[in-house]
Amino acid sequence: MKIPLYHYDIMKEREIQQPVDFNRHRRLKHTDKTFKAEISSITTLTDMEKLFHLRILDEAERERFTFLPGQFVMLEVPGYGEVPISISGSPSNKGLIELCIRKAGTVTGVLHKAKRGALVGIRGPFGTHFPLEKMKGYDILLIAGGLGLAPLRAPIFAVTENRPDYRKVDIMYGTKDPSQLLFDYQYEQWRRIDGVNLHIIVEKADDKWTGDVGLITKLFDKIEIVPHETYAIVCGPPVMFKFVCAYLSKIGVPMDRMFVSLERRMHCGMGKCCRCNIGSTYTCIDGPVFDYWTVMNLKEAI
Ligand SMILES: Cc1cc2nc3c(=O)[nH]c(=O)nc-3n(C[C@H](O)[C@H](O)[C@H](O)COP(=O)(O)OP(=O)(O)OC[C@H]3O[C@@H](n4cnc5c(N)ncnc54)[C@H](O)[C@@H]3O)c2cc1C
Ligand code: FES
Repeated sequence: MKIPLYHYDIMKEREIQQPVDFNRHRRLKHTDKTFKAEISSITTLTDMEKLFHLRILDEAERERFTFLPGQFVMLEVPGYGEVPISISGSPSNKGLIELCIRKAGTVTGVLHKAKRGALVGIRGPFGTHFPLEKMKGYDILLIAGGLGLAPLRAPIFAVTENRPDYRKVDIMYGTKDPSQLLFDYQYEQWRRIDGVNLHIIVEKADDKWTGDVGLITKLFDKIEIVPHETYAIVCGPPVMFKFVCAYLSKIGVPMDRMFVSLERRMHCGMGKCCRCNIGSTYTCIDGPVFDYWTVMNLKEAI
């Protein structure tokens, strides 16, 4: 019998046994319908990130728009293009779509110059979500690095708004320096919730910083983790979630109880253009949320 050397070999064998479902995108609820929306407010968070509140213009469409934490929308700036952006607000906040956007290039650069009242297009929501239902009754670790707090904010809202459903909740957040911390106006609010602990660390302190300094994994020294009773959601750059998940895995948190969000270049967001695929896996419809076991088995995913 051939012994598979790499996870990828196992995956290849699985793919042969389980042929790819060519009709996946047909099952999407939302496809190429573009909702017209206006930017109803803009908050500057850091030099590079702004929080946009969007309101779908049509009242019936606005009422119907719902999403699950971890999902994203395709945001269109007419005349410039479309970009995938994670929904960063609370799923219970009907009517307003919150997007935290970093100025990265053409489309996001134009958005950063937009004023209140500007019109944009929204398609979606798309993609898989964090399985918060399965996580009920467990300790929850919500871990973000840098801009990763944008997608993590939706599950933070979902968990804190339904606090009795979960046991202990630890939010861990790390950035390069204090000037890059996002949503600092919410930290006190999160800290005040019973059973929720917020731990923040920066790689490089400034004169005013009195908190922890170092890499995010240093925060694990402060947290008591019961591995078999814990679910983790990790959002951030691949180099960060690799180290975080490797640590959690080492102490015994099962790999299928850790969830990460993968970012790939996307064009259609609905399984048609092949821009985002890793092998036969399309990040836009099979992801962006994957459990860590699946990510480890996807060749070149991280
Ligand atoms: C599922 C998903 C969710 C996302 N959520 C957010 C979010 O909540 N907030 C946010 O600010 N950004 C998010 N992004 C990233 C965002 O989509 C890109 O920054 C954006 O597409 C850049 O478009 P642009 O036209 O401004 O830049 P471009 O001019 O197209 O590119 C500028 C630079 O950014 C790089 N780049 C472009 N897209 C990506 C990408 N997907 N990953 C890594 N590098 C990229 C390019 O290689 C280039 O170097 C998300 C991406 C995905 C796939
Ligand atoms: S973005 Fe087009 S297939 Fe995923």
